[in-house]
Amino acid sequence: MKIVSYSIRDDEMPALKNWEQAHPEVEVQIEHELLTPESAQKAQGADGVVVYQQKPYTRETLQALHDAGINKMSLRNVGVDNIDMEAAKELDFQITNVPVYSPNAIAEHVIWTMGRLLRREPEYTAKIAKRDLRWAPEIGQEMRMQTVGVIGTGHIGRVIIDILKGFGAKVVCYDIYPNAQLQKEGLYVDSLDELYAKADIITLHVPSVKENIHMINDDSISKMKDGVIIVNAARGDLIDTDALIRGLDSGKVGAAGLDVYENEVGVFNENWEGKQFPDKRLENLLERKNVIVTPHTAFYTQTAVKNMVEIAHNSNVQLIKGEKPDNLVKFN
Ligand code: NAD
Ligand code: COI
Repeated sequence: MKIVSYSIRDDEMPALKNWEQAHPEVEVQIEHELLTPESAQKAQGADGVVVYQQKPYTRETLQALHDAGINKMSLRNVGVDNIDMEAAKELDFQITNVPVYSPNAIAEHVIWTMGRLLRREPEYTAKIAKRDLRWAPEIGQEMRMQTVGVIGTGHIGRVIIDILKGFGAKVVCYDIYPNAQLQKEGLYVDSLDELYAKADIITLHVPSVKENIHMINDDSISKMKDGVIIVNAARGDLIDTDALIRGLDSGKVGAAGLDVYENEVGVFNENWEGKQFPDKRLENLLERKNVIVTPHTAFYTQTAVKNMVEIAHNSNVQLIKGEKPDNLVKFN
C-alpha cells in the first residue's frame, strides 16, 4: 500500500514517523510541496494521497490526480470549503477530513482571545513595553459578567460553551440544527437577531458555506449591542471585513479577535518582516489596540497536529482497503 503525503511540515514529521513505524505495511512518500496539477504527477503508482493546504483543490488539481490514478484523498484538517466539490463528485473521488482532531485546541484559543480582550491585554502589553506600569485607564471586565453568544454549536462551539460555564458566563446560542442537550438546558435563542441583541461577546463557529458568507455585515452589526466584542476562529469570509472596520471605527464594535481573515491565504503563515506587507485592510486591523489577530493558529497545538496526521493517514488506509470511514466527506 502506498500513500503520498503532500505539504508535510517539519512539525508534523514526528507524528508521521511514529505512524509509519506503527504501519510497516504502508509506504509513505513524503512531499513537502502543496498538491498542484504539477505535483499531482508524483502520486502516480500510489493508492491514495494525504493532503493539507488552504489553497484551493481545483478541478485541474483533482483531474491531474485522477489522471495519475488517484481518487482517494484524505485531508488532515476539518474545513472542506477549498475543494471543488462538483469536480470531486464527477471524478468519483472519495474524500475524508478530520472533523474532530481537538476541538479544545480551537475552543481554548477562543477563550484566551476573549480573556485577553476583556482584560485589555494588547493595550497593557504596548504600555508595559514602554515601561509605563500604571493601571488606568485600561480597566478590565470579568467573564462572568458577560453574555456570550455562540453561533454554531457543533464540535467546537460546544466545548466553548462548557468552558464558558466554568467561568460563570451567561451563554446564549444559535444553530440551525440545535443540539438536544443544549436545548434541554434552554441555551438556544430563536434567531440570530435575538442573539445579536443579547450578546456582549459574539463568537462564530459555523462553516463557510454559501449561506454563511458575510453573515457578519453592516446590517447584523447594527443589531448588536454597542461595544460588542466579535471573535472569529471559524472562517474569514463569515465576516465582511469592511463592515467590521466600519464598526470598529464608529465604536459600535468595541473589540475583535480574529484567528481567520477573508484574504488570509498566502498572507498568514508567512514571514513579512522587512518586506512590503501585502494587505492594507489586515494592516489596519493589526494596528488597532482593540483587535487581536492571530494567523489561524487556533488549531496549532501538539495534540491537534498529532491527531490530524494520525487520523488522516488511518482514514486513507481505510479508503484504500475499500472500507467506509465515518469521516467520509459528503458531496451535496
Ligand atoms: P461542526 O460542523 O462540528 O459545527 C458547525 C455547526 O454550525 C453545526 O452544528 C451546524 O449546524 C452549524 N451551522 C451551520 N450554519 C449555521 C448558521 N448559519 N447558523 C447557525 N448554525 C449554523 O464544525 P466545527 O468543527 O465546530 O468547526 C466550526 C468552524 O471552525 C468551521 O468553520 C471550521 O472550518 C473552523 N475551524 C477553525 C479552526 C482554526 O484553527 N481556526 C480549526 C478547525 C475548524
Ligand atoms: C481546519 O482544520 O479546517 C482549520 O481551520 C485548521 C487548518 C489551518 C489546519
